[in-house]
Amino acid sequence: GVAVSISFTVYGICLCRARTARTGTTWTQEIVDLLLHNGDAEVCKRAPTAVRIPFLEICAPPPIPSGLDLIEQMKPPRVIKTHLPIQLVPKGFWENKCKVIYMARNAKDNLVSYFHFDRMNLTQPEPGPWDGYIHKFMKGQLGWGSWYDHVKGYWKEHKERNILYILYEDMKENPFREIKRIMHYLDLSVSEDVIKRIVQLTSFQVMKDNPMANYSYIPKPVFDQSISVFMRKGEVGDWVNHFTSAQSQMFDEDYANQMKDVDIPFRFSI
Ligand code: A3P
Repeated sequence: GVAVSISFTVYGICLCRARTARTGTTWTQEIVDLLLHNGDAEVCKRAPTAVRIPFLEICAPPPIPSGLDLIEQMKPPRVIKTHLPIQLVPKGFWENKCKVIYMARNAKDNLVSYFHFDRMNLTQPEPGPWDGYIHKFMKGQLGWGSWYDHVKGYWKEHKERNILYILYEDMKENPFREIKRIMHYLDLSVSEDVIKRIVQLTSFQVMKDNPMANYSYIPKPVFDQSISVFMRKGEVGDWVNHFTSAQSQMFDEDYANQMKDVDIPFRFSI
C-alpha cells in the first residue's frame, strides 16, 4: 500500500498483491509518484523506489532502510507501500481517511512471479521445487499469507472503505485508462499529454532500464539478480509456460472452491 498524507489528510495507496510482492506494486508506485510530480521524470529519479515510497512493514538488512524509519522522517504528503492483509493495516490509515490503492493480479501469474522472486530474494525462504511451491501457494504458506484471503479481504471492503481496487491485467490492457482512474481517485489533475508521458515512463521496458525503479541497487546478498531479475517479464499469461495441464486443472478446482464467495473479475489472459 502507499499512503500519502497532506497535512491531516493521508492518501494511502495500498499496493498489495497477496503475500509479498509481484502484483505490480512497483509499477503503481512509479505511476503515483509521477502523477504527484506532474510527470516529471527527473524528479522521480531522485531516489530508488523504496526510499521515495517506504515499505511500511519492511525491516531488511542494511543498506535497505527500515520502512518506519523513513516514514517518520518524511513530510506530507506521504506515499507508503504495504503488503499487509487488510485486517493488519494500522487503524490510523482508516481513521485518517488515507487513500488506499490496492493492486491485485491473477493468481497464476502472481504465483509464477513470486516463485522467481523467492529464488532471487535471499532474505525469503527458498521456494523449493515448482510443484511443491504451487501447493504452498494454495495453502497460503508463503510470505504475507494466503493470496485468496488477501485479495478477498480488500475486495469485500473496497466500496465501504473507498479503496481503489486495480487489476494488473486491466493496467496492461489499457494503462492510459487505469492511470486516469488513479489520478481521479487521488483528486489530482494532470493533462492528457502528461498521462501519455506517464504511460510511456512506466512501460515495462523503460522501468526495467531505470535504475531508480528496477531495484538494481539492492546488493547481491539480498537480491541475487543473476538468478532472476526483479523486472522479470511484466506480462499477462506467463503462467502457461510454467503450469502443466494437470497442475493447471488441479489449481483451478481448488481456486473455484477458495474463491466461490466472491466475484473478482480476474483474467488469466488478455
Ligand atoms: P513478473 O515477475 O511477472 O515479470 P511487485 O512490484 O508487486 O513486486 O510486482 C513485480 C511484478 O510486476 C513483476 O512481474 C514485474 O516484472 C512486474 N512489473 C514491474 N513493473 C512493471 C511495468 N512497468 N509493467 C508491467 N509489469 C511490471
